[in-house]
Amino acid sequence: MWLDTARPARRPPLTADTRADVCVIGAGIAGVTTAYLLGKEGRSVVLIEDGTPGCGMTGMTTAHLSDVIDDRYTEMIRLHGEDGAQLACDSHRSAIARIESICQQEQIDAEFRRVSGYLFLSPEHDESFLDEEMDAARHACLEVEKLTRAPVEGFESGPCLHFPRQAQFHPLKYLNGVLDAFTRGGGRLYGGVRAIKVHGGSTAEVETAAGPRIIAKAVVVATNSPFVDLFAIHTKQAPYYSYVVAARLPHGAVTPALYWDTHDPYHYVRLQRTTSRELVGDNGDPVDLLIVGGEDHKTAQESDTEERFTALETWMRQHYPAAGPIEFRWSGQVMETQDGLAFIGRNPLDANNVYVATGDSGMGMTHGTIAGMLICDLIQGRPNRWASLYDPSRIRAGAVGDFLRENLNVAAQYGAWLTPGEVKSVDEITPNTGAVIREGPTKIAVFRDEAGAVHRLSAVCTHLGCIVAWNKAASTWDCPCHGSRFDASGRVVNGPASQDLKKL
Ligand SMILES: Cc1cc2nc3c(=O)[nH]c(=O)nc-3n(C[C@H](O)[C@H](O)[C@H](O)COP(=O)(O)OP(=O)(O)OC[C@H]3O[C@@H](n4cnc5c(N)ncnc54)[C@H](O)[C@@H]3O)c2cc1C
Ligand code: FES
Repeated sequence: MWLDTARPARRPPLTADTRADVCVIGAGIAGVTTAYLLGKEGRSVVLIEDGTPGCGMTGMTTAHLSDVIDDRYTEMIRLHGEDGAQLACDSHRSAIARIESICQQEQIDAEFRRVSGYLFLSPEHDESFLDEEMDAARHACLEVEKLTRAPVEGFESGPCLHFPRQAQFHPLKYLNGVLDAFTRGGGRLYGGVRAIKVHGGSTAEVETAAGPRIIAKAVVVATNSPFVDLFAIHTKQAPYYSYVVAARLPHGAVTPALYWDTHDPYHYVRLQRTTSRELVGDNGDPVDLLIVGGEDHKTAQESDTEERFTALETWMRQHYPAAGPIEFRWSGQVMETQDGLAFIGRNPLDANNVYVATGDSGMGMTHGTIAGMLICDLIQGRPNRWASLYDPSRIRAGAVGDFLRENLNVAAQYGAWLTPGEVKSVDEITPNTGAVIREGPTKIAVFRDEAGAVHRLSAVCTHLGCIVAWNKAASTWDCPCHGSRFDASGRVVNGPASQDLKKL
C-alpha cells in the first residue's frame, strides 16, 4: 500500500573498496535514521542496503507512532521497574517528537499527524484490565484517561483508555525524505549491496557479497535481525508473523485515531488517505482506507494464511461496519523480545565499535528512531539516558520464564528433521506454491513456479539448521527458529541467516 504512493528509488551498487567514519548496514527506518543523524553531526557515513531502501519491514508496517507500549505498562513495570517504564515512555515520546521535527526541518511531507490513541476491551477482559493499565501508565508518566466510550464516529468502543498526542505517518514518504536529506548532506548510499561479514576492532571492516569492502571506525548493523550474532541476541527474541488488511472507507465514516484492543494477539487499527492511482480513478479524489492488523502467530508455525486474513476481515466488519471492499492486504514479521523493548547498542560478545538495532517488538517505527538517537550518542561518545534500558546484553529477571518458553519452542522445531515431508511427491505441488518433502535423511524445499518448473533447495536454514516452511502469504521460505526468511529462489531476505538456501 505504501509502495503504491512512494516507491523508493533503486540506488547504485558499490563497485570499489571505500572508507568512512561509520558504515551503516540496512536502509529501513533504523539504519536510515542512524545514518542521517550521524551525517548531521559531520560524520562521513556509508549506508548499504541489500535491496532497495524500505523494502524490508519498514515497507510492511502500519506506522502507528505511539508511546503506549504494545506489551502494556503493567508488564513494563513488572519487567523494568517504575524507572525503566518511565524511561521507555520517555524514549518513545521523544522518538515521535524527533520524527515530527525531522519532517519540519527537512520539509518532508510524510503526512505526519497527531491523533488520539484508544485502548478498548476485547470480550475476555473486564474493566479492571483498563483500571490496572491506566494506573501503570500513570506511574510511567503517560497522560491517560478512562472513558465510557471513545468520542469518535463509526466505532462503538465501549469503556476505553484515551491516550492523547499519539501520531501516524506515511513510512515510505518519510524514509524517502530522510534519505534525500542524508545524501544532500554528503552521505553515501549504495543499493543491492549485501554485507556478509563484519570485523570489528580499531579499523572495522565490512565484507560484501560482491567483493568491495568498507573500512570504517564503527559499524551499525540495522538489518532488522542481525546476521553478526549467532546466539546472544537470537535466544532473547522470537519471530512473529502479523497480517494486515486495508479497506475502502467513505470519507468521514470513522474518526482518524489509533485503535487497539486488549486481545492477545491484539488488533491494531488506523486510517490513511491515499492517492494511489489505481484507487483514485479519473476524478483524482483521494480515497480513505481503514487499515486493520492482527492475527499474529509464531513465524512458520502456522500455515492457515487465508483463514487469518478472513478472521481479520470478519473482526473489522463487526467493529467498523462502514468498511467497504478490501483494497490491499499484506503481512510481515516482527521480532518480539522477552521483555517488550528493543535491543539497541553494542553487539554482545563483539568489538566495542559494532552496534546493533533489533527486537522491534512491533514498535519498530519508534524503536528504529530511538536506535538512531541512541547509537548516534554512543558513537559520538555522549552519555544517553536510555542506554542501559536498551542494552542488547541485558537479561531481566522477570523475563526468564518467557526466555525458557521461547527457547524450548526453538528446540522443539528441530524435531522437523524427523517428521515426514508435507507432501509425498513433487507432483502434488501446484504452480506458485512451495512445500517441504523428505528425501532419505534430509528435507528438500521445493517451489513450483507459474510456468510449472520445479526449483529444489535444501530446506535446512543456513543460520542454525532448523527446517524452513513455505509462507503462502509472502511466497517465502521462513525459518521457525529465529525468523530467517528466503525468497522462492532461496535468496536470504531477512536475517539472522546471511547465506542463501543451498540450491540442489
Ligand atoms: C504487519 C506489520 C505491522 C507493523 N506495524 C507497526 C506499527 O504500527 N508501528 C510500529 O512502530 N512498528 C510497526 N511494525 C514494525 C516495524 O514496521 C518494523 O519493526 C520496522 O520497520 C523495522 O525497521 P528496521 O529498520 O529495523 O528493519 P527493516 O525495515 O527490515 O530494514 C532492514 C533493511 O536491512 C536490509 N538488509 C538485511 N540484511 C542485509 C545485509 N546483510 N546487508 C545489507 N542490507 C541488509 C534489508 O533489505 C532491509 O531493507 C510493524 C511490522 C509489521 C510486519
Ligand atoms: S533462523 Fe536460526 S536456524 Fe533458522
